[in-house]
Amino acid sequence: MGGDREPIRLGLAGLGTVGAGVAKIVRRNAAALAAKAGRPVAISAVCARTRDKDRGVPLDAYAWEDDPVVLARRSDVDILVELMGGSDGPALAATEAALDAGKDVVTANKAMLAIHGQALAERAEANGATIRFEAAVAGGIPVMKALTEGLAANGLTRVMGVMNGTCNYILTRMEDGGLPYDEVFAEAKALGYLEADPTLDVGGIDAGHKLALLAAVAFGTRVDFGGIGIEGIERISIEDIRQAAELGYRVKLLGVARMSGRGLEASMAPCLVPTDSPLGQLEGATNMVVLEGDQVGQIVLRGAGAGEGPTASAVMGDVMDLARGCRVPTFGQSAGHLVAAAPARATLPAPYYLRMALADRPGALAKVAAVLGEAGVSIDRMRQTRHEAGEAPVLIVTHPTTRAALDAALAGMEGTGVVLAAPVALRIEQV
Ligand code: NAP
Ligand code: HSE
Repeated sequence: MGGDREPIRLGLAGLGTVGAGVAKIVRRNAAALAAKAGRPVAISAVCARTRDKDRGVPLDAYAWEDDPVVLARRSDVDILVELMGGSDGPALAATEAALDAGKDVVTANKAMLAIHGQALAERAEANGATIRFEAAVAGGIPVMKALTEGLAANGLTRVMGVMNGTCNYILTRMEDGGLPYDEVFAEAKALGYLEADPTLDVGGIDAGHKLALLAAVAFGTRVDFGGIGIEGIERISIEDIRQAAELGYRVKLLGVARMSGRGLEASMAPCLVPTDSPLGQLEGATNMVVLEGDQVGQIVLRGAGAGEGPTASAVMGDVMDLARGCRVPTFGQSAGHLVAAAPARATLPAPYYLRMALADRPGALAKVAAVLGEAGVSIDRMRQTRHEAGEAPVLIVTHPTTRAALDAALAGMEGTGVVLAAPVALRIEQV
């Protein structure tokens, strides 16, 4: 079945974790792919930096190119499958070359699309091509397909996600093992979880790239990575995790995007979520995306956000759609229709968790309470834990307040002379 029609021919640029996974699926599942697509799915040519590396899959049947741009332009390549990574350089050059030749591109490259997504979408459209990037957001979870197809009739009200498996592994391991951040970070590194530049993971940047793409498709906006407020998990201590647990919450690196009258509110930051919520129950390196539509209500998608099999599965899902002739514009609608939403700081009030170290002397707490009161931030709960070497650790949960009011209070605390280090401030997200 599926053998009568011309094959769809792939140029595979990148043979690392994901690229090798794609080559394995094309080889092992050839008959099923052909049956489902109604035509064979074939690799014409491949490209990587090193030719004589064992990739765990035979590649001799495919032509080899040293230059991904040359690969993209080959006449026997219908789709460029870009799996090299990097926001610029060879990934961008090969993608542009493929689009200019009117070829579709399938990529897992969130960094490239978060920065150049709008320009690439316009370039694709000008050349009658499209870009598919299911694997770029939450790996194996088919969230782009859910948004652009199944939920296409909805107005999206809020999208949320735990989309960096490494950070969720670190946070849940700290909690389960009662271990400090530095120890678990070293463990994650030894397990090979961290990107070559770990800041991409723990600094929230990788997850921020994913949120930029998710928000663009959900709200029909031009992808705007610069408009996302990003905070990493580096300052989360075992104390925060313990205190959160006592209050009935867990700490998650959570991306939240919603449209308000003021613009697109998008942040990727550690937040407290209720322990008994789906997000609160997410363990280890797993990802979760929560979509809220005006017709459908809440949809929760959970699954592997990374790794060879799950990521290659998402790449091949996109390839299969193109092989069947199913073509959706890059960000779900024409690039010219995407609006440039003003980035907005969260305006909806939320309770906040504040942990601070105060000088252990008379009046210190009163000064902090006064600053909060002057900024209009009301205290819901407060706790002072053990004293150490002249330092009084204090925990405050506020009543719902705006981020602007909280920022004013945090700025005011600097001048009190009693706050010994920048407080940890975490939004408590209602999920
Ligand atoms: P990887 O293992 O580092 O593989 C990168 C591949 O690109 C390697 O085969 C490398 O060649 C090749 N390459 C790099 N520069 C090149 C150049 N100038 N010319 C030709 N080939 C070049 O990366 P990966 O983990 O597979 O990730 C690939 C993409 O998928 C990235 O955009 C990443 O963000 C995304 N992604 C990955 C995962 C995951 O779980 N790994 C999940 C979601 C998304 P050599 O092998 O010869 O060095
Ligand atoms: N570093 C990423 C993660 C890989 O930990 O989720 C998948 O994008």
